[in-house]
Amino acid sequence: MCGIVGYIGDREAYPIIITGLKRQEYRGYDSAGVALISDAGLKIYKKKGKVQDLEESLIGQPLSAHVGIGHTRWATHGEPNDKNAHPHRSFHGKLAMIHNGIIENYAMLKSELLKKGYQFKSETDTEVLLNFIEDIYFNTGCELEEALRIALKRVAGAYVVLILDEKHPDTILAARKGSPLVIGIGKGEHFLGSDATPMIEYTKEVVYVNDYEIAIVKKDELTLKNLGNEKHLPYISKLDTELAAIEKGGFPHFMLKEIFEQPATIFDCLRGRLNTNEMQITMRGIEEHLIELTQASRFIIIACGTSWHAGLAAEYIIEELCRIPVEVEYASEFRYRNPIVRKGDVVIAISQSGETADTLVAIEKAKSRGAFIFGIVNVVGSSISRQSDAGAFTHAGPEIGVASTKAFTAQLSVLIMMALKIAIERETISQAQFQQLLIELEAIPDKVASILASKDKIKTIAEKYYTCKDALYLGRGYNFPIALEGALKLKEISYIHAEGYPAAEMKHGPIALVDETLPVVVIAIKDDYYLKIVSNIQEIKARKGKVIAIATEDDITLASMVDEIIFVPSSPEILSPLLTVIPMQLIAYYIGVAKGLDVDKPRNLAKSVTVE
Ligand code: G6P
Repeated sequence: MCGIVGYIGDREAYPIIITGLKRQEYRGYDSAGVALISDAGLKIYKKKGKVQDLEESLIGQPLSAHVGIGHTRWATHGEPNDKNAHPHRSFHGKLAMIHNGIIENYAMLKSELLKKGYQFKSETDTEVLLNFIEDIYFNTGCELEEALRIALKRVAGAYVVLILDEKHPDTILAARKGSPLVIGIGKGEHFLGSDATPMIEYTKEVVYVNDYEIAIVKKDELTLKNLGNEKHLPYISKLDTELAAIEKGGFPHFMLKEIFEQPATIFDCLRGRLNTNEMQITMRGIEEHLIELTQASRFIIIACGTSWHAGLAAEYIIEELCRIPVEVEYASEFRYRNPIVRKGDVVIAISQSGETADTLVAIEKAKSRGAFIFGIVNVVGSSISRQSDAGAFTHAGPEIGVASTKAFTAQLSVLIMMALKIAIERETISQAQFQQLLIELEAIPDKVASILASKDKIKTIAEKYYTCKDALYLGRGYNFPIALEGALKLKEISYIHAEGYPAAEMKHGPIALVDETLPVVVIAIKDDYYLKIVSNIQEIKARKGKVIAIATEDDITLASMVDEIIFVPSSPEILSPLLTVIPMQLIAYYIGVAKGLDVDKPRNLAKSVTVE
């Protein structure tokens, strides 16, 4: 994790770096720092806490410089404190470095350096790598670029590093393996970031640096080389994100803004793909690989966190519509198992950020065993999108709130379209069923908007239950993954212990938890399971549990049985997760707010997990 920013050019570097770091706090926010080179030499300022704390501590400091780097941290090696914050200064004082990733063999490198008399100020793997580079630089007398190359050949792990050298204030040196690095190209200036947000108002031209590349970044020159010192031609991409998309737009939190964006983001995701005039779904990534996808022997879905929940919902949807077996795996498990992957298997990798380390490595493993990789990713240009053989972007726009909301509904929308497209090609559903689902899918954004209109009611419910210690979430069929997602959202945002369960499994354990203090959120829409779920609700009520039901609009009978009821519009069961998840997001949000927590930056979490 961690966010990195760099600037070199004629502008003041510090304000660009600080603003860029604030935009990248979703990647980590336990400490922050900047390093600046000016006539006064190399200065480093760093502090435990959020970027704002750093900024406040630097008021009045001489910060004028035209080259600098900055970092916002999510701790891996060493607790969050001032010492462990980046940038780190090398032992002999002339180099400063920031790092996103993990150096796995740092202990071995450290013991080599200790023998040579190096001393360390922090507990980080980063300081070890920096001193390792410095040692080569000083002892061989080579250029810093060469020292970096030699060092990286001995490093195991993942990294993006940015290095400043006091002797060469005209250069930022950068390298990447496994963690993201974007370089923005301006006129006589360059910007560096973990993503494009720090540079969005300055340039639309960016280069996504590849693994094992070193970037030598000067004011008006960008050189990319591989570890063998061969030059690579930078491939320039165009950014299509606007500044407004990464600002709060009048909402108190990004999470709320992103929840409320969903009618628009789902619409954007469907736009150009779903056509109810011609009754067609157009998805280039599928059409160009129709054979692989329609004749897949099996789909293996790999993902983490909320994306994994979208994958689990897709298992139900794809198996029902396409009649192709689906397995859903946590990427972190898949990468270390000896999974059976055969030619003909299609791996669907789902990721909002496109940078999740476990998912990336799982993709590599599946690829090496002959699987075809279909990526469903939100961030264009991200590593997973580039590693995939084919795919579809979710077009949800930048998601800043750490808890994923709009990316999830966009992922589900893509997965549903994908399932429908494959099913109609395979003729596993009828034309009539296909057409009805297309029409219903098109109606989803308006239905989501109507659920959002009941936000005040959901807020009132949240304010009634926010002091609870535990919560249970139940759902069945297509809505079992939504119960898991509801519980995850609550844990992430409010730190309340919550469990998601298939409703019928409740009797095999969780029912023991039920008493008058336990809120149980039950998805009880009018689907094939409705009567069964109503029985589950009775079982909870018989034990004095408090039931918050997510129900189909106008279900008066259910309203009389439960403590609270939140209505969602009626829709075909298979599409219902796109609706039932909305109250889950709002419940978690309002409970987090009622508890006075920072819902956009929950403790210990980061949005983009680029480490194991
Ligand atoms: C982190 C985030 C989650 C996200 C998960 C997977 O844990 O906090 O919101 O679902 O990573 O991330 P991805 O970017 O691969 O979807």
